[in-house]
Amino acid sequence: MFQSEPYLASPSRYDEAGVRFRRCGRSGVLLPEVSLGFWHNFGSVDPYERSREIARYAFDHGITHFDLANNYGPIYGSAEETMGRLVDDTFRPYRDELFIATKAGYDMWPGPYGNWGSRKYLMASLHQSLRRMHLDYVDLFYSHRYDPATPLEETLQALVDIVRQGKALYVGISRWPLEALKVAETYLRQHDVPLLIYQGRLNLLDREPQQAGILDFCADHGIGFISFSPLAQGLLTDRYLSGIPEGSRMAKGKFLRQEMLTPQLLGYLQKLNETAAQRGETLSEMALAWILHQRGITSVLVGASSTAQLEKNLRSVGAPAFDCEIPMFDINVSTTA
Ligand SMILES: NC(=O)c1ccc[n+]([C@@H]2O[C@H](COP(=O)([O-])OP(=O)(O)OC[C@H]3O[C@@H](n4cnc5c(N)ncnc54)[C@H](OP(=O)(O)O)[C@@H]3O)[C@@H](O)[C@H]2O)c1
Repeated sequence: MFQSEPYLASPSRYDEAGVRFRRCGRSGVLLPEVSLGFWHNFGSVDPYERSREIARYAFDHGITHFDLANNYGPIYGSAEETMGRLVDDTFRPYRDELFIATKAGYDMWPGPYGNWGSRKYLMASLHQSLRRMHLDYVDLFYSHRYDPATPLEETLQALVDIVRQGKALYVGISRWPLEALKVAETYLRQHDVPLLIYQGRLNLLDREPQQAGILDFCADHGIGFISFSPLAQGLLTDRYLSGIPEGSRMAKGKFLRQEMLTPQLLGYLQKLNETAAQRGETLSEMALAWILHQRGITSVLVGASSTAQLEKNLRSVGAPAFDCEIPMFDINVSTTA
């Protein structure tokens, strides 16, 4: 059988071709300003060669941080299986250069123990994730969402114990409300496993974590913040400015619905596009640059269906600051279920 050449990472991945790094809160960890998410484009429905090309391109350009979750795919678990294949044929020699995250919090398997925030679910899920990814440990494990029914102390103690067991080096939380974030910060600090990072959706169309005081709390307490869906799933790019292209996330319709693209929203996006042009940037570059210039931001967590998109998104690194406010759209546009 034909054997492909072994992968050799680009020798210039940390210099001229690379992204820049920022300290994650008050920790020893540096994360790239642009990180890569595996929510879409890395499942068993996607061609493995394309997924691999995107992941290799990312690493060759200094993107050391990959973000996964137990249920990314489709099918559930398959993005982690793709990571397992990548570990085997690409990244094993570079494991110590990578910062790999996974999460548990949404529905994963049937019955009462495959969802939310119990110790039972988090422990079992991470065990499965490690098997799928062919890893002994992850660098970062998240509670993927706040569970209003499980005592916060149970979820948080499970995170502490996961670190003590050596299955994760750091812990984070995603989409927890401010009051629960405050509890997490105190509990984890008191148990010597400080909260490394908060993952929330912040972009030009949805500024909720800023408005709710989450970003400021993180900045004031030495917690990093990584912004997911920074391009609002593609809305904050040129992808939909003149129609809905075939094969785009909106054309697929499951996570980004066509009804969202109202004439009002399109008009706002076109104005943003003009502002970007005045800055000598594309809309996606400006959208990412805007996030990177907000107080308390560690990294933007992008998705990409091609290396060309990633290449464009990396151009946001080092973009100049903004000399005036970018006005809000009338309402926050929440693009993820
Ligand atoms: N914690 C949570 O609950 C949560 C929730 C959502 C996401 N996340 C994390 O955040 C990551 C990123 O989320 P996301 O995929 O929604 O991020 P995003 O960066 O807002 O959107 C990515 C999509 O936008 C389009 N795109 C990207 N760059 C483009 C460019 N330069 N020009 C034109 N189109 C471009 C592509 O869509 P096409 O497919 O149309 O090409 C791409 O798949 C996920 O993978 C996941 O790791 C976490």
